Amino acid sequence: MKYMARTQNINNHKSRRAVRFSVAMRFVALALVMAFVLTAAGCSKKAATANANGTSSTNSAATNSNQEQSYTRNIIIGFSQIGAESAWRTCNTLSMQTAAAEAGIQLIYSNAEQKQENQIKAIRSFIVYQVDVIVFVPIVQDGWDNVLREAKEAHIPVIIIDRKIRTSDESLYAAYIGADHVEEGRKAARFLQEKYKDTNKTLNILELRGTDGSSVTDGRYQGFREVLENDSRFSIIYSETGDFLRSMGKELAERILSVNGKLQVNGTPVDIIYSHNDSMTLGFLDVFEEYGIQGGKDVTIVSVDAEQAIIDALAEGKINCAVECNPKTGPLVMEFVQRLANNRPIPKITRIEETVFTENDDLSAIEPRGY
Ligand code: AHR
Repeated sequence: MKYMARTQNINNHKSRRAVRFSVAMRFVALALVMAFVLTAAGCSKKAATANANGTSSTNSAATNSNQEQSYTRNIIIGFSQIGAESAWRTCNTLSMQTAAAEAGIQLIYSNAEQKQENQIKAIRSFIVYQVDVIVFVPIVQDGWDNVLREAKEAHIPVIIIDRKIRTSDESLYAAYIGADHVEEGRKAARFLQEKYKDTNKTLNILELRGTDGSSVTDGRYQGFREVLENDSRFSIIYSETGDFLRSMGKELAERILSVNGKLQVNGTPVDIIYSHNDSMTLGFLDVFEEYGIQGGKDVTIVSVDAEQAIIDALAEGKINCAVECNPKTGPLVMEFVQRLANNRPIPKITRIEETVFTENDDLSAIEPRGY
């Protein structure tokens, strides 16, 4: 809770840093950090200045007038993102970049291309550069303690967003901002219980998991089972990871359907698909069209994220339920960074509000999703 008491006031830190780092040294460090970031991202150097479609950038912007924001002009965030595996993720990155620019905060962005080792390298390079705050999305839960201890020793606060880490030392990060992924799994299951409340027949479920080892996959896996475990009608007959990728959703659908053109696993018909994200669901829908299977009718589909393409599919009756996962955390992250800069406390855990869209809703009133 009171992270500032345990670590540092950013402004004190800045004055210490000013002694340690001459302007010239900082340029050298920036060159180093960008080299690390670009190597990790596997991209060419031109991405350092042209970020619209690139994997690495810095940004800065507007001057601010009130006192809270007066400290933001010099704030630098090092942001380690997982990659660009889904429309959700792209929106999450854009939300961070836009919010930073609007707050006049510099953001050094690093795309880890789905590799934890790239994230660890990026975080180390942010420490070398002595950014003011490190923000990162942990691709998996375990394996962060060493690098976070290094950040702590360098007095750099860390904000974790979207996915959680597993650690025995909660002092290694200042705050976590993200969704309740267990609750998302529960919401998916509750929709099914409601939809089938008048049915006694057995309902066979195929589950598409996200990235194994990530807190988000664990949460969606656990929450779903928690609700359905005492309901003997529901049977999870198959569960496989599609790594949150449309291509892998497509691949699995093709593998299943190429057997006899039917949605069956070892001869057992699938009644329900529970997909941990929309990208994998869309991969399935791509293949269904080829085989003349009607998603939403021949098979019930529940998908997590609620991106625009899946809301459109819901409106067309191709899926039955979209559990929202909100990627737009950028403004809240910037608010917390500014609070840290002004020596004000930030909450250790902040949950993002989320909703559920179903086939029973009036979808005409939904605002464009933006992802
Ligand atoms: O961690 C959030 C998940 O990661 C989203 O559900 C998924 O689309 C993304 O890639």
